[in-house]
Amino acid sequence: MATTRRPLIAGNWKMNLNHLQSIAFVQKLAWALKDKKFNGQEVEVGVFPPFTDLRSVQTLINADDLPLTLGAQDLSVHDEGAHTGDISGSFLSALECTYVLVGHSERRADHHEDDDTCAGKVQAALRNGLTPILCVGETTEDLEKFGASKVPVDQLSAVLSAIPQGSDIVVAYEPVWAIGSGQAATPDQAEDVCRALRETIRTLHGDDAAESTRILYGGSVKSTNIAGFMKRENIDGALVGGASLDVDEFVAIARFPQHVSVE
Ligand code: PGA
Repeated sequence: MATTRRPLIAGNWKMNLNHLQSIAFVQKLAWALKDKKFNGQEVEVGVFPPFTDLRSVQTLINADDLPLTLGAQDLSVHDEGAHTGDISGSFLSALECTYVLVGHSERRADHHEDDDTCAGKVQAALRNGLTPILCVGETTEDLEKFGASKVPVDQLSAVLSAIPQGSDIVVAYEPVWAIGSGQAATPDQAEDVCRALRETIRTLHGDDAAESTRILYGGSVKSTNIAGFMKRENIDGALVGGASLDVDEFVAIARFPQHVSVE
């Protein structure tokens, strides 16, 4: 983590918690952050609920001025029209979402989203004033065939070539084999790929973009391993799945600066 980039801890709830459960959860989360004297200036914490929860969570964040930013898990490549079931980026910005995930491996697998689709979604996010969090990562087979960096670097290059230099994006490196498996990458493995991703940004979008873009690690992040990742130069935060649904765990992850020096 470089001091110039504000760390982002992003909680991807996936398809968990309905809107009633989301209200109870965010209230508990807000209380626990306050109780533990969480410093929102130092670390940014984002929550990524399902679409049906967004309005409820937005209302809570606004009413109590909670130290949380809001994001969605997906968006359409289109802004409006005959696209049954899809959600426009303009609807997400109207709900004051700051971020939107693009190309999570579960969407690439379940919905056959390829690099062209991801590029279209990143463009749609930017067009609507949202910051896309582009997820990239290799499967076990990719790892065996090509090593760790090639697939994530190719996925990132495909999107960077489709958007103007200076576009504000976040990148999340999530090895598919580490997601939900309890088997996180080691900090060394994650740092190597995140460094390669940053160099890809440098080559395609220049030094300023390379220095300012936040690159997150995701895949079985917990309170017991976050410190190891956050100590590394090229890792600026985490995309957290399972552990983001446990208030105490998630708060402990968000408070990593308190345990980063003692590990
Ligand atoms: P996990 O999921 O933390 O449960 O491994 C991460 C993600 O899919 O974003």
